[in-house]
Amino acid sequence: MGKSNGLRVIMFPLPLQGCINPMLQLAKILHSRGFSITVIHTRFNAPKTSNHPLFTFLEIPHGLSETETRTRDFTHLLAALNRTCESPFRDCLTKLLQSADSETEEEKQKISCLIYDSGWIFTQPLAQSLNLPKFVLSTYKVSFFLDHFVLPQLRRERYLPLQGSITNSEDDDLVEEFPPLRRKDIFRLLDAETEVLDSYSDLILETTKASSGIIFVSSCEELDHDSLIQAREDFQVPIFAIGPSHSYFPGSSSSLFTPDETCIPWLDNQEDKSVIYVSFGSGVTINESELLEIAWGLRNSDQSFLWVVRVGSVHGKKWIEAIPEEMIGGLNEKGRIVKWAPQQDVLKHRAIGGFLTHNGWNSTVESVSEGVPMICLPFFWDQLLNARFVTDIWMVGVHLENRIERNEIEKSIRRLFSETEGEEIRERMELLKEKVGRSVKQNGSAYRSLERLVDHITSF
Ligand code: UDX
Repeated sequence: MGKSNGLRVIMFPLPLQGCINPMLQLAKILHSRGFSITVIHTRFNAPKTSNHPLFTFLEIPHGLSETETRTRDFTHLLAALNRTCESPFRDCLTKLLQSADSETEEEKQKISCLIYDSGWIFTQPLAQSLNLPKFVLSTYKVSFFLDHFVLPQLRRERYLPLQGSITNSEDDDLVEEFPPLRRKDIFRLLDAETEVLDSYSDLILETTKASSGIIFVSSCEELDHDSLIQAREDFQVPIFAIGPSHSYFPGSSSSLFTPDETCIPWLDNQEDKSVIYVSFGSGVTINESELLEIAWGLRNSDQSFLWVVRVGSVHGKKWIEAIPEEMIGGLNEKGRIVKWAPQQDVLKHRAIGGFLTHNGWNSTVESVSEGVPMICLPFFWDQLLNARFVTDIWMVGVHLENRIERNEIEKSIRRLFSETEGEEIRERMELLKEKVGRSVKQNGSAYRSLERLVDHITSF
């Protein structure tokens, strides 16, 4: 740790892997700059506190029912968490501020601010009433955060009335309010499940505008230049784009699951850029037939692979028992299937040549940071936009267009690994990696933004 500056920052992540990782990455960065860190978290999906002995963790009850904790529907989970956590969080924060007031001069540490995930909607008014500066942390790509406020209006005015009546030829048209999404992406984004989030949209917008600043932990000028200009204009609060934040403290110590470290020695025995890594993050679920199509696609591609199948991620199944025994034999000849991988170390490994991904923003940025080209298979929400950036804007990957079919998967792997197209993609990816890598180095855009953030928090 850097020398203590006598300031404490309170952090409140959403209890989802893709949100805990970036929040704790920021916590490590701020700690290294002299801040003390208190993390308020729910019992549900609690971070592994033993991995962070230098932080103070305060647990609040989440109040979710057994069924709610097991739901695969993230939008409903988010709504339930916001309903049940408000009062335990208020109690916890109030006590924390009171106890800070009663500390002796010697132990006194000023609580400088609260940093909360943009998905918590009750925190801003609460911090306001307690007179505490508050920062919104967004784990999304800047352009998604900026444009997703238009979704309720699109649902009401343009797309819902059209659903079902659009012809295939219009599917690929760009949506002008939300580029580079296409119409077919918007239809998927506006499914019935996300409707529950519409009612939050205005509130999130309002509270963000009333915040002391927005922190984009996994973005930088190099990935989001135009959107950052727009965001500064729209929100009129200081904006910090300090990412890819995992580059400051690489490693997967915020994992909620135990990574299978045996992947690494297995990769050590593979040739350079010969392995396709397959993982769909912490929230995506698939059905049995999709599992089999992926298995066949990998096998038929004849490429070595490392495939993460999370326990419970195949509907109605424990793990991979739906894959016939005789096929497992064939799969084992070319690859490995694990329950959770040390992803950042895997992507860094010289043997990895491609990433079949759901395009969660963390996975996307981790892949760019290591220069690994992607095969994009987004499932929901911001993943659809991230995938379009990968394939249509940066052109560092190929898109499966939601075709979870063995032939399509085989074809996309061959496109990436053996054809001229793959080489061109690899060259572009190398350039993007270098650009983004420079941003976190001294005097790079993300590095400078981080310096500004530290100064800003210190000034309260
Ligand atoms: C969720 C949403 O799905 C995503 O769209 C949003 O951008 C963030 O919240 P998640 O699905 O978990 O996130 O995906 P992602 O953002 O990619 O985060 C997954 C994290 O888990 C990454 O940091 C990745 O390194 C880590 N991981 C994943 C592992 O450490 N091991 C694995 O086997 C798989």
